[in-house]
Amino acid sequence: MIITIDGPAGVGKGTIAKAISKSFGFKYLDSGAMYRALALFADLNGVTEKDLSKLKKILIDLHIRFIDNEDGERVLLNTDDVTEDIRTNEISTLASKFAANDFVRTILREMQRRLVKNKDYIAEGRDMGTYVFPDAKYKFYLDADLKIRAKRRASQLKEMLGINMNEERVSREIKDRDKLDMTRESCPLHPADDAVIIDTSDMTINEVVLKIESVINDA
Ligand code: DC
Repeated sequence: MIITIDGPAGVGKGTIAKAISKSFGFKYLDSGAMYRALALFADLNGVTEKDLSKLKKILIDLHIRFIDNEDGERVLLNTDDVTEDIRTNEISTLASKFAANDFVRTILREMQRRLVKNKDYIAEGRDMGTYVFPDAKYKFYLDADLKIRAKRRASQLKEMLGINMNEERVSREIKDRDKLDMTRESCPLHPADDAVIIDTSDMTINEVVLKIESVINDA
């Protein structure tokens, strides 16, 4: 069974998807981490999002894996642990730029579908319920005011990377990223027609988790 959670940057999708995956005993797919790992890989290879022919060449050598070890859930890019490296602001922006490329999306979509095959998954991202898993059993779209999302993202940066970033700068960064993610031609971010839309602006993480669980349990 697949449950999808989509929504804009900083809405708390990751934390919420992880909590639900634990309570339902489902695996968790962080599709944004895949776009981030790809962007980091391209950047390390000196390839920009505009250089499609070079990009096609290097993607043959791209292997992204999710593992669980004593440090928790980790993201591996080939053999390197890049869990923290992919969370910087620079990689956020770069991931969004690479994500606008239709070729990149086709490659990652196939990886995502292969990964979840025959398993129960909570898939989280921008296009999970719309383009990657249109037949998912339950679909959720989370939203929140920009100011609140900036606050959540800033505290995540502090917690995860120890980076103190001004909320206004974070707000500008996620606003630009949302614009790119929502207006690109290939699989833009929007709620699926059959998604349950939740405005989480005035809700705690726990309240959102309970709301999603009640939708699933009452169905
Ligand atoms: O969820 P995130 O912030 O880690 O995602 C980083 C970027 O990756 C996001 O700005 C757009 C892209 N992305 C995407 O296009 N489709 C997805 N399913 C997930 C992420």
